[in-house]
Amino acid sequence: MHTFWCALNLSILRGRDWMKELGIYIHIPFCRSKCYYCDFISFPKLDNKIDGYVDYIIKEMDLYQNLLGEYQVKTIFIGGGTPSYLEGQYIYKILYNIYKKFNGEKIEEITIEANPGTLNKEKLKIYKEIGINRISLGVQSLNDSLLKEIGRTHTSMDFYNSYELIRNIGFENVNVDLMFGLPNQTMDDCMRTLEEMVRLNVEHISYYSLILEENTLMNKWYKEGKIKLPNEDIEREMYHNGIKYLERNGYKHYEISNFSKEGFQCKHNLIYWKVKPYVGFGIAAHSNLKGKRFWNYNNFNKYYESLDKGIFPTEGEENIDKRMEIAEYLILGLRLIEGINKKDFLNRFNIKVEDIYEDELKKHKEQGLLYIDDEWIRFTSRGLDLSDIVNIDLLP
Ligand SMILES: C[S@@+](CC[C@H](N)C(=O)[O-])C[C@H]1O[C@@H](n2cnc3c(N)ncnc32)[C@H](O)[C@@H]1O
Ligand code: SF4
Repeated sequence: MHTFWCALNLSILRGRDWMKELGIYIHIPFCRSKCYYCDFISFPKLDNKIDGYVDYIIKEMDLYQNLLGEYQVKTIFIGGGTPSYLEGQYIYKILYNIYKKFNGEKIEEITIEANPGTLNKEKLKIYKEIGINRISLGVQSLNDSLLKEIGRTHTSMDFYNSYELIRNIGFENVNVDLMFGLPNQTMDDCMRTLEEMVRLNVEHISYYSLILEENTLMNKWYKEGKIKLPNEDIEREMYHNGIKYLERNGYKHYEISNFSKEGFQCKHNLIYWKVKPYVGFGIAAHSNLKGKRFWNYNNFNKYYESLDKGIFPTEGEENIDKRMEIAEYLILGLRLIEGINKKDFLNRFNIKVEDIYEDELKKHKEQGLLYIDDEWIRFTSRGLDLSDIVNIDLLP
């Protein structure tokens, strides 16, 4: 009895320091219109669904209330879709409920994704008031005709206006999403957009290579020969020139597609890349909790029906066995430019990485795709372009 109470008191005294850290993702599947390249679960013209959807997200949180007691929320990411398309009161309601239902005393970062042209002073003030401290703006490019061609409904001027508002309200951590390899995009387009972001001193830049997704209008037009993409050499040049330019201008290239000023790496995404626990709320949201990977229905009705019955709206789940966890840890960890720390690997899995992947590591080191020393394993510059070749070999 005595020992039991001592142990209990000790854990109370330690407060919540012993708790595990958790990332929370909220999926907002609404947009003003559908961009031609986008395959995210997001829908235009469903404004009348917004009110009900937010209530269901809160219902979903209720189901998790008892399950997340041992976790401290470290980061929240409100993504989409276009969360900034919603009136501010909805975002307020979602965050208020997270604070009410989960352990939120140690939250370090709360990001909201926003599209230029959907923000106003009132929304931004609400974001600030409820604790959002990072705005992620989907800019893509500052070339207005290119924006039109890819189905964006905003102009470069909308970006400048939104950016000014964001800074005026006092946000000190801003990310911009940019894309390269777009139809008819030139090297000059890419570099001019990057130069503007450097001039504006944004804290974080995501610089994404266009992926032609199966179910998109852009893919259809490409197959029909209606649009042309920059060839592979030019696309790679856009990437490597971007890296060089941003590095020369004070940005650290810390993940394949991500750059930041010192101290501004995205803490939420680091949870994904380091394969730590996270829970996703909303349709199509994914979670990684207690050794299980699971994902929600991507259909409103099925998601609502489950929640009406008080059941988790899970469409599928995977048990991650040790071997798979190790492969994921390596594949996601190698996305980070610093790579995998061998000691961290040993601490987490109780085995040396070379004991599992001796041949594969040797082969890709010899082929110049991996750099390996006593402490680290990371992609070389060439390896960043050919990461898929290495990743295939890492799968069990
Ligand atoms: C969740 S999305 C949407 C965020 C926000 N709704 C917007 O469009 O600005 C986040 C980012 O992914 C990138 N993205 C979306 N589809 C892409 C694709 N097919 N290929 C490469 N990047 C893509 C865009 O840069 C986008 O801003
Ligand atoms: S890129 Fe953003 S705004 Fe465009 S459809 Fe996708 S989620 Fe919506």
